[in-house]
Amino acid sequence: MVRENLVPHTQVVLSLENGELAKLTPLGVEVYNFAGVPLNKYPRTLSWNPVLIEKQGFKHFMLKEIHEQPRLIRASLDTYLNYDWYPTNSSEMPIKLGLPAGLLEDLEQIQIVACGSSWHAGLVGKYLLEQIAGIPTMVQYASEFRYAPPPLTANTLTIGVTQSGETADTLAALAMEQQRLTNQQSRFQLRLLGITNRTESSLAALTENIIDIHAGIEIGVAATKTYTAQLLAFYCLALDMSYRRQVLPLMRLETILNGLRQLPALMESVLEVQEDSIQKLADQFTDTQDVIFIGRGINFPVALEGALKLKEISYIHGEGYPSGELKHGPIALLDAKVPVVTIAQPGSVYEKVLSNAQEAKARDAHLIGITPRNNSETAEAFDQLIPIPEVEELLSPMLTVIPLQLLAYYAAAYRGLDIDQPRNLAKSVTVE
Ligand code: G6P
Repeated sequence: MVRENLVPHTQVVLSLENGELAKLTPLGVEVYNFAGVPLNKYPRTLSWNPVLIEKQGFKHFMLKEIHEQPRLIRASLDTYLNYDWYPTNSSEMPIKLGLPAGLLEDLEQIQIVACGSSWHAGLVGKYLLEQIAGIPTMVQYASEFRYAPPPLTANTLTIGVTQSGETADTLAALAMEQQRLTNQQSRFQLRLLGITNRTESSLAALTENIIDIHAGIEIGVAATKTYTAQLLAFYCLALDMSYRRQVLPLMRLETILNGLRQLPALMESVLEVQEDSIQKLADQFTDTQDVIFIGRGINFPVALEGALKLKEISYIHGEGYPSGELKHGPIALLDAKVPVVTIAQPGSVYEKVLSNAQEAKARDAHLIGITPRNNSETAEAFDQLIPIPEVEELLSPMLTVIPLQLLAYYAAAYRGLDIDQPRNLAKSVTVE
């Protein structure tokens, strides 16, 4: 039983480690190891309050969790940004992640392992770590990494991203890396970092170096608030590393920090302004069988996440693609019955994305544009617009994902599906 389900019944838990078993007797619980030796184990109290797992007026937990995002991001910014820092104040650090200094020193490479939405967050993380902190970063599915790990290299940080801290493949990939690096023949130092919503999870048994995303309990199986909270962790990590390594000019760093501080209010405005129109748009998906999501650069992973959300809860097939790749295959799928949701964020790839959208429109597809621009250019490229506030491209994934979460939610709600418990899916996949 997952902890979310336990909280209404009790907050006191006694966790078993691998290789332990418990015997329930009328007098209590006795714990043994597999050799039959009795163990002294002490219960602990979960910090979660049962109130947190009420829907608080929302029809589903997923919708509640989508709406919680601005507040949670604001709280995380308060936790991790140092408001006393400014470019000429070198006595302060701009970010307070509380990680041991040695962990991030002299890094030459980062590898990220994760599954599902956490993997998508990792892809955005790669973009940030490379573009803000200048560190080559690769992202792998944990389930793939385990069977074809890259050769070990010096000064490499391995980051496991898992909201639950319990995903078997992610834990196994990290454990394997730990073993490879502590092997006597390895010349390289072990550096592991976890990004999680569960600081008391099994992940914590693998590493003490944790960034807590502080998203509170997420009940909906489809990750929403934990995804944006993971993104925020990557923004903080990338900015922290950029500062330590003196990659970006300090004024630029300050601009990004200021931009981050604006995000919660902008997320609120997307929710307030767009929710009704996205619901109406989703209602048009009655007979839709396939939806293509395209984006480019830092918004390509957001397209993947939008497609995953749609599949998970509405059972409509969604496919995320980098828009420049559309013509190398998926364009063959397009006709008037296939909506193409396009993330057209002004910045380095904006014109390219618009022209990719035109290519799709020329195949009669119905084009939906998520963009801050409402002008003749976007009117020509898109049949329908979902306007979002304009922020710099680097920060845009925090906003562009919200309409996609709502679209998936309302498409599933219209079909009367069990949104919080979609068929065949589990919140934490603890089997390999
Ligand atoms: C399951 C959930 C997904 C989640 C994935 C990874 O498949 O249904 O929503 O993204 O696990 O979970 P984690 O806890 O490792 O982030």
